[in-house]
Amino acid sequence: MVYQTIKSQLASAGIEAADFEARILFEDIAGLSLSDLVNGGGRDLPPEIHHKIFSIVKRRVAGESLWRILGYRDFWKSRFYLSDDTLEPRPDTETLIEEVLRETDRSGFSPQKILDLGTGTGCILLSLLQEYQTATGVGIDLAKGACLTAAQNATHLGLQDRVKILNGSWFDPLPPDSRFDLIVSNPPYIPTEEIRNLDSIVQNHDPILALDGGKDGLSPYKYLCSNLKKYLEPGGIVFFEFGVGQVDDLTRIVEETGATLIRVADDLGGHPRVLKFRYGDN
Ligand SMILES: C[S@@+](CC[C@H](N)C(=O)[O-])C[C@H]1O[C@@H](n2cnc3c(N)ncnc32)[C@H](O)[C@@H]1O
Repeated sequence: MVYQTIKSQLASAGIEAADFEARILFEDIAGLSLSDLVNGGGRDLPPEIHHKIFSIVKRRVAGESLWRILGYRDFWKSRFYLSDDTLEPRPDTETLIEEVLRETDRSGFSPQKILDLGTGTGCILLSLLQEYQTATGVGIDLAKGACLTAAQNATHLGLQDRVKILNGSWFDPLPPDSRFDLIVSNPPYIPTEEIRNLDSIVQNHDPILALDGGKDGLSPYKYLCSNLKKYLEPGGIVFFEFGVGQVDDLTRIVEETGATLIRVADDLGGHPRVLKFRYGDN
């Protein structure tokens, strides 16, 4: 059966989630669900679908990410389209969304103005806007192509009237009197020298601007922390995603700018992944 052939081609290429990926291909390209497959669907695929699926498998086996080939990745509750200038949203980043919602459960916090620095596909900002339906948001990215993709994703999700996507470096595109009650960021955080050791899928297909965090991987955080305060409403909260092994350095950077660290949250793999802090005690 074609499905089994695909699964074993993917598995022999060392792809761990071969079963899952084979299923995604059938769902996406042939429109067949798992139960269709169990009931014998996929035996007589039309030749063009057959050809399309096998050409994707060929690219996948050659080392491209499935999501890059398909052009989207699902994140939180929605589908986010990708472009050459965007990072693929990662499941670990959902920890940041969970943490904001946790704050709502804990204190009733309901952000009305959200800033996302380094928005990429817009996955963090747009997911938050879906959760907080009276909020508006601004997403900023240095990559023009990422801004276009984030704006298209906003339109796909029907959020275009509640979001502004601005192109530029960090706070530069913001009017000086802008204030937000929630600032979020998943900036580039890989030390420059470590980029060449990353998995080849990441190294060859995720844009360097989304990865390179400077010599120690912490340059964006240092810049952001020394400028954040003036864009926060009183009582405003900041959530940062960060990389494995960065929690102590990042805590020091945050505290040196006079912020109060509130919480460090782990991702699904048990690694510290999200830092939550604010300025002042409230
Ligand atoms: C790690 S990616 C995160 C993308 C998205 N927020 C996510 O979580 O999937 C970092 C993003 O920061 C952007 N970026 C890098 N340097 C920047 C700068 N100086 N100003 C604004 N955005 C920047 C990159 O283009 C990239 O989209």
